[in-house]
Amino acid sequence: MTILVITGTGTGVGKTVVAAAVAALAVDAGQRVAVLKPAQTGAGQGDPGDLDEVRRLAGGGVTLLELARFPEPLAPDTAARRAGKAPITPSEVAAAARELAAEHDLVLMEGAGGLLVRLDGRGGTLADVAALLGAPVLVVAAAGLGTLNHTALTVEALRSRDLCCAGIVIGCWPAEPDLADRCNLIDLPEVTGVPLLGAMPEGAGALAAAGFHAAARRGLAVELRGGG
Ligand SMILES: Nc1ncnc2c1ncn2[C@@H]1O[C@H](COP(=O)(O)OP(=O)(O)OP(=O)(O)O)[C@@H](O)[C@H]1O
Ligand SMILES: [Mg+2]
Repeated sequence: MTILVITGTGTGVGKTVVAAAVAALAVDAGQRVAVLKPAQTGAGQGDPGDLDEVRRLAGGGVTLLELARFPEPLAPDTAARRAGKAPITPSEVAAAARELAAEHDLVLMEGAGGLLVRLDGRGGTLADVAALLGAPVLVVAAAGLGTLNHTALTVEALRSRDLCCAGIVIGCWPAEPDLADRCNLIDLPEVTGVPLLGAMPEGAGALAAAGFHAAARRGLAVELRGGG
């Protein structure tokens, strides 16, 4: 079994879409897949969360587990504190991931926001969860200007903690990439020293499951060319 932690250079960069894409490919390959969301913020009881997106995109056949939910769209520790609820700790998240890993071939874990967003009031982060598990971390990045710096900072933070960076995926690759987007394809791996493993095509996040599986195959196996 494999546990893969999925983080991003920030919020809204496509982590959920990429988690669903990796899950879709693994399901298609016959694997037993689970997606774990340690803390869903910005959603009250009964509201749709990221795991509902994963179900919609990847389809059935994926085990989904959300450990904590806080209604305000804030970092998990802040949202927990303001809700008067106990936060989720890295060791609780790691224990849940290990339990899922006992029954699945692949466990994907989507953090909230970026790598160093706090989960609990003691400074515990998704990086701590990855360290507890010894799990590789996939970094989802945006396309365009500004992404080189954010991605390099995330990769550097992984390196400084001796965490393995599995690679970078661009969450939403524009249908009509501009010069900055195209240069990302060369510069992201060069600046970070980490492979660029794919780019999910713009529009993939709006597809139904059948179309999404095909988009995931294209997005994560695409031969990336760029520059110029
Ligand atoms: N390839 C894509 N095609 C279409 N829409 C996309 C794509 N990637 C991301 N989006 C859209 O952009 C928004 C943000 O994407 P997503 O929810 O995956 O980001 P996230 O990093 O998981 O955000 P959060 O930090 O809130 O969990 C969503 O509305 C999603 O549907
Ligand atoms: Mg998400």
